[in-house]
Amino acid sequence: MRIVEAGPAEDAVLSALYESAFGEVWAPDQLAQLLAGPGVFALIALDDAGEPAGYALGRVAADEAELLSIALLPGRRRQGGGRLLLDALIDRCAAAGAAALFLEVATDNAAALALYRGAGFREAGLRKGYYKVGAVVVDAIVMKRELGAA
Ligand SMILES: CC(C)(COP(=O)(O)OP(=O)(O)OC[C@H]1O[C@@H](n2cnc3c(N)ncnc32)[C@H](O)[C@@H]1OP(=O)(O)O)[C@@H](O)C(=O)NCCC(=O)NCCS
Repeated sequence: MRIVEAGPAEDAVLSALYESAFGEVWAPDQLAQLLAGPGVFALIALDDAGEPAGYALGRVAADEAELLSIALLPGRRRQGGGRLLLDALIDRCAAAGAAALFLEVATDNAAALALYRGAGFREAGLRKGYYKVGAVVVDAIVMKRELGAA
């Protein structure tokens, strides 16, 4: 797999990846609005055949950055794509001048927690009741990684 930065014409690719990964629809105009926000960028993981396999969205604001979303297609997980995307996003944020990268992750998302811990993120806080899916309420762990440090 290899990572490329998404261009403005790739909103539909990102929407399709989001829908396949999460089983929810992300309207293209909703995404376009997000991507048009200050400091927002998108990365796409391409498989060896050049087909999109996953994405990551980030935002840089002055010296702080945020991982907004990351996902691989269900059939493309555990193949190193998540870590490749995360490493590329870390580099992209550091190059844009951010000194720290933050994210939120559901306390029950073992795969994502392991990915982030393995990439050097540490717990920095807890947001109670952050995720609500129907009647299910899940807390979010806030994680932080200093950029420039290992
Ligand atoms: C979280 C996610 C992005 C990981 O992507 P991935 O491509 O499968 O991850 P990688 O193959 O790069 O794995 C990197 C490390 O993450 C951890 N990891 C990934 N999937 C895991 C799983 N199912 N269980 C435990 N650890 C896991 C492991 O530490 C792994 O390293 P290893 O393979 O050497 O053990 C992917 O599972 C996904 O798309 N999940 C659904 C969307 C989501 O929850 N996104 C995060 C919240 S927005």
